Amino acid sequence: MSSLQSYVLVTGATGFIGAHVVDGLLKRGCKVRAATRSTLKGQLLKQARPQYASQLDIVQTSDFSEAVSFREAVKDVTGVVHVASPFSYSVKDNEKELIRPAIEGVKAILEASAASPNIKRVVITSSFASIMNADLKVPPRYTYTADDWNPLSYEESVAKETSAVIAYRGSKKFAELGAWNFVKERNPEFDIVTLCPPMTFGPIRHPVSNLAELNESNANLWKVASGQELPVSRVPFWVDVRDLATAHVEALLRPEAGGKRFTVASPQKFSYSLVSDILLEEFDWGKERTAKGEKQGIDDSFALDGGAAAMALGLAYTSFRETVKDFINQAIAMEKIEVRATSEKMQIAR
Ligand SMILES: NC(=O)c1ccc[n+]([C@@H]2O[C@H](COP(=O)([O-])OP(=O)(O)OC[C@H]3O[C@@H](n4cnc5c(N)ncnc54)[C@H](OP(=O)(O)O)[C@@H]3O)[C@@H](O)[C@H]2O)c1
Repeated sequence: MSSLQSYVLVTGATGFIGAHVVDGLLKRGCKVRAATRSTLKGQLLKQARPQYASQLDIVQTSDFSEAVSFREAVKDVTGVVHVASPFSYSVKDNEKELIRPAIEGVKAILEASAASPNIKRVVITSSFASIMNADLKVPPRYTYTADDWNPLSYEESVAKETSAVIAYRGSKKFAELGAWNFVKERNPEFDIVTLCPPMTFGPIRHPVSNLAELNESNANLWKVASGQELPVSRVPFWVDVRDLATAHVEALLRPEAGGKRFTVASPQKFSYSLVSDILLEEFDWGKERTAKGEKQGIDDSFALDGGAAAMALGLAYTSFRETVKDFINQAIAMEKIEVRATSEKMQIAR
């Protein structure tokens, strides 16, 4: 391991993807500083990793909708993995809650890194949202690669009539574009790597007190397993969170990854109907609980290249069945604890 990346700041560390990145770095022997807006979540993250007590510290940062500075947070670190960005479709003001914070978060982390010459690399979690072109009609087949950019304009992204789903795509595009422009214009001491994953699923490692708090993507898997409406399948591309965390760690540590953009994606495609088929086959409760709804097909006219990232970063993609099983087993165990706690509360109240 390069000693230059031996102390790493991870933003969004108490989130779904960020916590896996923290664990990947700790396992590789890096010291990690985990950034979060919530000291409580930071403490919970640390308490859950007693074996890494001396390797992990927590720093509190502010919301990206306020004037955020990472000057203190980057002190002494040699590398940064910037995962944090708002990812929720339950917002009232797209520009205020999604787009501006995503852009400002990237800008603030790069400004602070540029003022800290020890930092040699910044890895940024972008998204397939910054790649996909929702209007693309290219029969018969098209394979998205890291050369593609979503064509949304800033004006379209912030327009009042734009849905939160489209606005989120704008947030990721303009935040990532801002990073590439920053490097071009400012020529800092560090280089950047951006990762553009599609829907990310898998077991959770971050502090979540109940299933209602699941992150946006896993919440959709849980909907299928808890008899709710089958969620809308917007894209058939996905990646396992553990593979994505490895991609972040390798993107930070491999010198030759510098200056590159990667689409990190499984070669398999998915739909929520496929999730329901897996649940029916793998779990004896599947028949009673699995969401019912119109069968969703998988659009075969598009593909997303995950091969270039696998080659460059040494990834072996997990199968969709394994990802679904691992997450659902964990969620079912959480549900049992929640049910037990509720029934104990009711007994006390009686
Ligand atoms: N999950 C997916 O399917 C998926 C797919 C592609 C790309 N991504 C990208 O991956 C990253 C992490 O996503 P995730 O699924 O792990 O989401 P997550 O669980 O919601 O984590 C995101 C973290 O970012 C921080 N954050 C959110 N809004 C913020 C704001 N306004 N100001 C400051 N910090 C804020 C939060 O950390 P604190 O609350 O601790 O401050 C939060 O834990 C995001 O950049 C997202 O766009 C996710």
